[in-house]
Amino acid sequence: MNLFEVRRAIERKRDGEALADATIEALIAGYVAGRIDEAQIAAFLMACVLRGLDEHETETLTRAMIASGETVDLGLDAVDKHSTGGVGDTVSLIVVPLVAACGVPVAKLSGRALGHTGGTLDKLEAIPGLSTEMTIERFRALVREIGCAISSQSERLVPADKKLYALRDRTGTIPERGLIASSIVSKKIAAGARWIVYDVKCGRGSFLRTESEARALAGSFVRLTESFGRGAIAHLTDMEEPLGPAIGSGVEAIEARDFLRGTRRDRRLEAGIRHVGEAMLEIAGAPKERLQRALDDGSAYEKFVALVEAQGGSRSALEEMTPLPARLATAAQSGFVDSLDTVALGELGHDLVASEGAFAGVRLAVKLGDAVAQGEIVAELYGGDDAAEARLHAAVSIGAVQPRSRTLVIESIGSSSPSRITSAIR
Ligand code: URA
Ligand code: CA
Repeated sequence: MNLFEVRRAIERKRDGEALADATIEALIAGYVAGRIDEAQIAAFLMACVLRGLDEHETETLTRAMIASGETVDLGLDAVDKHSTGGVGDTVSLIVVPLVAACGVPVAKLSGRALGHTGGTLDKLEAIPGLSTEMTIERFRALVREIGCAISSQSERLVPADKKLYALRDRTGTIPERGLIASSIVSKKIAAGARWIVYDVKCGRGSFLRTESEARALAGSFVRLTESFGRGAIAHLTDMEEPLGPAIGSGVEAIEARDFLRGTRRDRRLEAGIRHVGEAMLEIAGAPKERLQRALDDGSAYEKFVALVEAQGGSRSALEEMTPLPARLATAAQSGFVDSLDTVALGELGHDLVASEGAFAGVRLAVKLGDAVAQGEIVAELYGGDDAAEARLHAAVSIGAVQPRSRTLVIESIGSSSPSRITSAIR
């Protein structure tokens, strides 16, 4: 595509016309090869944000992005899960070994922390010695040998997304459903999983402001994934409060360890684990009852240790992890927890880790709606100073009225063709 042809494509999108497959393919290939000017791609992206991408354009874009790099052939049927980003969402660290312990291989590519939300890679790397950098060959070998792996995004998979995402990030062009869906689904498809479970957050603390936006994105994830012959389930889940009690990379790794070995299981986190874990088993055709058994008999914890060891960590370092000394934050008055500022809590956890290391952070002792008495502990603050404690108090609001209880999973959007799905269990 020459300069004029690219300009014509931008103008067409700007004026609300649909783009031909060949145009989208040429734009992506030309951009990745460095033949198309970044200014033109930025203008094109803005036109996409303003006009939207239809389903067919989104599918073509996704296909073109996948074609920009390699794809992984795992040589077996594996499941993956993706969350659109939450606070206190320690689910991946727990559910990956848990589902693998149930006999369903899990091949997970993860990302870094984004804004106030935590990143699975940062949490995992808080475990001493552990690395998430690996070749595609090593990723494949780990999934085949121990049944699971959590890897950072390889440079060889979807290089178009790396360039496009960085450009979108600095040009205000992140929030368009087709761009988001193509970015996420291209990476999931390229990484080789047969089935993908999406956890789409909505409410305070999520990137999607309204339930209808979240529902539309969840629908796009499912249809787009199916268009590549893979199975998908998407859950819409509530983010009006952090999912689990721990916030901060290292304290979340500790929460995952303690959850798996059964020493401490937060009820809301457990509900989150159950929904995602059961969906992963269900879509792979495995009995859901295995989840509880793997938690009870220690096999999920042993699988976690195997994953940690295979990725460079050790059992002893895992078991010795401990948070920084705690300060106890107590309720200044009696009442009900009537709001939790999810974004502020995520930012506090992030800032504590940035200034004091992986084992600084927060562990909430209360949930939305809990009754608290004056002087009762509402949270433990690991590290931090008086200013951090003030931020914590500002984020935990206690009032006279108990808020209505909320359900964690708002809706499930299933694979429309479960009969096509074959079982990973033999
Ligand atoms: N995360 C991604 O990887 N891509 C997006 O577009 C948004 C969030
Ligand atoms: Ca608690």
